[in-house]
Amino acid sequence: MEDQAKGLRELVKKERNVKNSKFITVASGKGGVGKTNFSVNFAFTMANYFKKRVLLIDADIGMANIHILLNSDPSKNLKNLFNGENIEDLIVKSEGFDTILGFSGIDSLDDMDEMSISMLINALESISYRYDYVIIDTGAGINEKIASFLRASSRAYIVTTPEPTALMDAYALIKSIYNIYGYNNFKTVINMSKNREEAINTFNKLKLSANKFLGIELEMLGFLPITQNLKKCVKRKELIVKILPNDPFSLEMRKICALEAQEPIKEINSNFWEKVFDFLGKKRKK
Ligand SMILES: Nc1ncnc2c1ncn2[C@@H]1O[C@H](COP(=O)(O)OP(=O)(O)OP(=O)(O)O)[C@@H](O)[C@H]1O
Ligand SMILES: [Mg+2]
Repeated sequence: MEDQAKGLRELVKKERNVKNSKFITVASGKGGVGKTNFSVNFAFTMANYFKKRVLLIDADIGMANIHILLNSDPSKNLKNLFNGENIEDLIVKSEGFDTILGFSGIDSLDDMDEMSISMLINALESISYRYDYVIIDTGAGINEKIASFLRASSRAYIVTTPEPTALMDAYALIKSIYNIYGYNNFKTVINMSKNREEAINTFNKLKLSANKFLGIELEMLGFLPITQNLKKCVKRKELIVKILPNDPFSLEMRKICALEAQEPIKEINSNFWEKVFDFLGKKRKK
């Protein structure tokens, strides 16, 4: 019986490996630099222009707000798993991609018992591997939870703006994840720059510090210009990449997605959720 169960687990894992899902965590250090807008517009572009299967997860514990940008029902969140709902019924389908309004209804992962953790991991694992991309939007700050998502990811997208405070926080985040955990799979997105030149100058400052003080090579994934059109779209709860496909923001987002879509995956991430919760010091009930 034990052998049979083990065999089945291996089979499921093997099947999942074929999917080569990429897990990308979006983080920044400083708040309000555009992580959530980036994540939602990235998910839309990947799904609709590059025909990728995308799952977007709101992991901003306590301050989740993807549902606001997508104008969807916030009560459909992971907390319902513990009321007996099936994870399939908690997937919000909109705009060509799927969303899990994540941890919004869960106040803290700290108080969860082993049973609940197991339930959460099993549920998330059962759906994640059917996607090409799983995008995890995190909140502001540098903390253990964000670090756990970053360390388990295939890549970390660090979003920053040209503001010195945003740059400093982006550097601090990279430094702590690299120094403490040795994780070094970062790609930088410069948001809200006036033009490409300002974005490149901004990136070069970050690259120089990372190289000089940490000895790591940072890569720039792309830049997104500052635009009033994005703010207008946010107010109307519309996605700029959908409503204004020729706005410079949308054009640059397509370049970012084109670059990402051609990146090969270095390592198959077959137990992402188990890793996240392991890093958080949470054990799964076997
Ligand atoms: N390229 C841009 N041009 C103009 N405004 C922008 C741009 N990117 C983001 N914004 C504005 O910045 C604000 C913050 O954006 P967003 O919520 O995406 O940031 P965040 O990093 O997710 O914030 P938090 O850290 O609170 O989660 C929003 O009001 C948004 O409209
Ligand atoms: Mg956000």
